[in-house]
Amino acid sequence: MESSQASGRWTGRAPGRVNLIGEHVDYLGGVVLPAAVDRHTTATGLPAEAWSVASEVPGGLAYAQVLGSELGAGPQMVSVTSEVPPKAGISSSAALLVALSVGLRPEMDGMEAALACQRAEQKATGVQVGVMDQFASALGRRGHAMLLDCTTLEYQAVPFPDELAIAVIDSGEHRSLADTPYNERRREAEAFDPKRRRHVDSEIARVHAFVYALGRRDFSELGRLLKQSHESLRDDFEVSTPTVDALVEKAWSIEGCYGARIMGAGFGGSVLALVERAQIKTFVASIGQPALVCATADGAYVAPQ
Ligand code: GLA
Repeated sequence: MESSQASGRWTGRAPGRVNLIGEHVDYLGGVVLPAAVDRHTTATGLPAEAWSVASEVPGGLAYAQVLGSELGAGPQMVSVTSEVPPKAGISSSAALLVALSVGLRPEMDGMEAALACQRAEQKATGVQVGVMDQFASALGRRGHAMLLDCTTLEYQAVPFPDELAIAVIDSGEHRSLADTPYNERRREAEAFDPKRRRHVDSEIARVHAFVYALGRRDFSELGRLLKQSHESLRDDFEVSTPTVDALVEKAWSIEGCYGARIMGAGFGGSVLALVERAQIKTFVASIGQPALVCATADGAYVAPQ
């Protein structure tokens, strides 16, 4: 331990995230309900002459350099291992940035760290992302979802029932966010395009209804809200694709699935399904695409309870 401190070696570990509901509203100051999940990215490093990142997944260098300058950290030789598959919709980039941040600055306030990681993501990619993914990875809580108000940055842990399994299904359509109309959708919504705003306003109402239904353990209502969220993302925000729509409809039809929708930025990516725990094996076997079954986890800046 002492020798590793003397050499300046550090390690940071951070989870990926799912978003239960509240899609494409974070950058407009809406409320969202993500959760950190039990797939982690680990970064280790030590000070060096120049930045380098060794990882199975390319592209980490730009993230590390930009985050380093956000955090005021000099060049590091970094090595990354990850259980968070890239481009599968559980935010491998937020997990990487938050792992680097907690490795380099473990003493930092989790909210400040999340904001620094959001700025780094925006600068490294040019995509004007909101703060949801970095917040969930930094400050999510095991056994809970995180209700986050993206205007005030107030957040609260909402108990998430054990009987619900979270499945993240890979649509097979992988796109890097920088190649999608993400920024365009953001501009349209900010310019009060009526169709885009209809999604935003209805989605925010669904987040509140979802939290209320979680409290009452009304799982069919959760499913109904997921379905409505998908329809709104498909028809009003127009971030779905025919492949994803077909996958979501297949998920809806499988026994034990309460509901499913496109998750994350969209334009391909992944589908979130909430499934009765007793039926999850059959669900995964029936859906016909690779699926990760996730449990909620603690964020990188949360001390385990
Ligand atoms: C990506 C962004 C988030 C959020 C979602 C859509 O995951 O990183 O900030 O905007 O898309 O809800």
